[in-house]
Formats: sequence, C-alpha cells, structure tokens
Amino acid sequence: MGKKRISNKMEKMLNTQMTREAYQAQVYLSYASWAEVNSFAGIANFLYGHMHEEREHMFKILKYINDRGGEAKIEAIDAAPKNPKNIGDCLQKILQHEIDNSKEIDKIVNLAHEEKDWATFNFGQWFVEEQIEEETLINGIIDKYNLASTEIEGNNNLYEMDRDLSNASQEGDLPREEEF
Ligand SMILES: [Fe+2]
Ligand SMILES: [Fe+2]
Repeated sequence: MGKKRISNKMEKMLNTQMTREAYQAQVYLSYASWAEVNSFAGIANFLYGHMHEEREHMFKILKYINDRGGEAKIEAIDAAPKNPKNIGDCLQKILQHEIDNSKEIDKIVNLAHEEKDWATFNFGQWFVEEQIEEETLINGIIDKYNLASTEIEGNNNLYEMDRDLSNASQEGDLPREEEF
C-alpha cells in the first residue's frame, strides 16, 4: 500500500476502534439472539440487521488503515455483555453502547485535528454522522417502546411494536448524502 500516511498513534487508535466496532456487532448479535429466544422475532430481526451494519463499520476502518499504508491487526473481541432483563433494558443498553461509541469516534476526530491529518479527519466525519443517525434511530425505537408499554392491555402493543420492527429501516430519519 506504499508509504504510510497515518501516524503510528492514529493507526493504533483506528485499530482499537476497528475492534470496538466488531464488539458492537457482538452486542447486537447477542441481544438479537436473546430477543429471538424470547419470542420477539421482529426486534431480533432488527438487531440481526444492525449487527451487519456494525461489521461494515469494522470493515470500513480496516480498509482505511490499509489504504493509508498502515496495517490493520485483527485482535480479540471482548465477550458480549450479559442478557438484558427485558426489551426496555435491551434498548437502553444499546443506546448507551452507541453513546459510548460516539465518544470514541470523537477521540479519533480530535487526534486527526491535532495532527492536521485531514484525510482521517474527513474519514472520521462519516462516523460522526453515522453515530448521530444511530442514536436517533435507537431513541426512536425507545419512544415506540415507551408508548407501547404505557397503555398495555394484554401484550397487544408490544406485539404490534415487534411486528413493526421486523421490517424497520436500519437508517435514522436524518437526511444524508449517499454513502461511500
Ligand atoms: Fe458502528
Ligand atoms: Fe452503532
């Protein structure tokens, strides 16, 4: 890939983020499987879908490191977290994972700014936007869950919500430019 055009520090930070995105995928995968086992097929479907999004993020970073003359290192991924207590807990935990992840993305953008590494700064902006979108998406689902679970009669509302999520988009509602 020719001469290295990212700093060693940036390469390391991007590599850590690549592994973190793989961990995010593990989180979604484990929660999806949990939801499926607990009869929420729609939510499971949504979460399985999002697992693929996180793996794409991982791959995007891997490609970027290598394209800039660095070398991505495939490292161990932390174990998935414990099962959530219920759907509400599951959604809150996912939101927290996304918020934590956004803070890590910010660190990359900060370092890029410090180093005047405008290529990585630009690359990082894609992730900044993606994180805004994901937080909005998950917040929207939490709103639906709150509505579904306040007026509960039997489990009709949760049932409807689950059905609704079986073909929900993985994208937030924000307008955005074409990816890639
Ligand atoms: Fe991600
Ligand atoms: Fe995410």
